[in-house]
Amino acid sequence: MTYAFQAEGLVKRFGATTALAGIDLAARAGTVLGVLGPNGAGKTTAVRILATLLRADEGRATVGGYDVVRDAAKVRRLIGLTGQYASVDEDLTGQQNLELIGSLLDLRRKDSRSRAKELLEQFGLAEAGGRAAKTYSGGMRRRLDLAASLVGRPSVIYLDEPTTGLDPVKREDVWNMVRSLLDSGVTVLLTTQYLDEADALADEISVIDHGSVIAHGTPAELKHKVGGQTIVVRPSDPGRLDEVDRLLRETTGHETESSGRGVLTAPADDDRVFTTLVRRLDEAGIGVIELSLRLPSLDEVFFTLTGAPVPHQNAHDSLEMAV
Ligand SMILES: Nc1ncnc2c1ncn2[C@@H]1O[C@H](COP(=O)(O)OP(=O)(O)OP(=O)(O)O)[C@@H](O)[C@H]1O
Ligand SMILES: [Mg+2]
Repeated sequence: MTYAFQAEGLVKRFGATTALAGIDLAARAGTVLGVLGPNGAGKTTAVRILATLLRADEGRATVGGYDVVRDAAKVRRLIGLTGQYASVDEDLTGQQNLELIGSLLDLRRKDSRSRAKELLEQFGLAEAGGRAAKTYSGGMRRRLDLAASLVGRPSVIYLDEPTTGLDPVKREDVWNMVRSLLDSGVTVLLTTQYLDEADALADEISVIDHGSVIAHGTPAELKHKVGGQTIVVRPSDPGRLDEVDRLLRETTGHETESSGRGVLTAPADDDRVFTTLVRRLDEAGIGVIELSLRLPSLDEVFFTLTGAPVPHQNAHDSLEMAV
């Protein structure tokens, strides 16, 4: 299998702190790997190693087949980085910021200028391109940061908590931008503390805690791993709720819960419970408006895996991004 990037057994210590305790991370080309973990889990440290900004104490990592230590210059040509450390100069305009990066990447002046213009347009910043970045809103700045990481047309992009501190509408904006990047064939490493974000964008997720990967899989696999599926039934005739209640208790072997709006739910220990219920409802001639098997949310998965409460969007302010 060919991976766009691959890290094996990364260990990184800062004095007495073990930031990474031997983690493996990898993504196939053209996919999104979500790295999900609470504050201090080691996300940024892993990204910095993969971005050649920091050396691991142990383990190795490659990007596009190039070693991040031995072939650092080649790796840098393949990657774009955006996130917790702002790459934007406050006093320069959006256009100047992007042109500056173009010149750092040895683009010709003319090419820097046209690339900057093109990106500003793509990210809805054409109007604001002539204004100093310090006048930008949080959402605009995040978009400029994302645009900055794309100047060199990278094939691998690291997004380190790209939506931390953004309101829901702006988060959705950034998500859509990430999706459009994927259409152009790039590979993305996305770190996040938000389960819905990983669920929405990632093909596979590595859950990390205290510098170790504690679970890995597709969002659906992770949800399955934790189990705890729920059957949801809403009969078309509310008058038959009692009958449905009895059938549901018999097939699942659990007590039911009622939402009070004609919906009954019960835990399902295995998939066959669902098909049995469908058959029994049919035999009893009970029609349904709604009948589904709900997986646990990633929030529940995260809680089960880490024992930590789910982080909330506003728990983290945007100041951290401006370091
Ligand atoms: N330069 C450093 N010097 C000392 N300790 C560090 C350094 N960088 C990171 N650490 C420590 O390593 C651990 C992992 O930090 P890291 O920044 O990788 O976490 P993170 O998952 O990115 O967290 P957050 O969600 O808060 O950004 C933390 O305990 C942190 O305090
Ligand atoms: Mg971080």
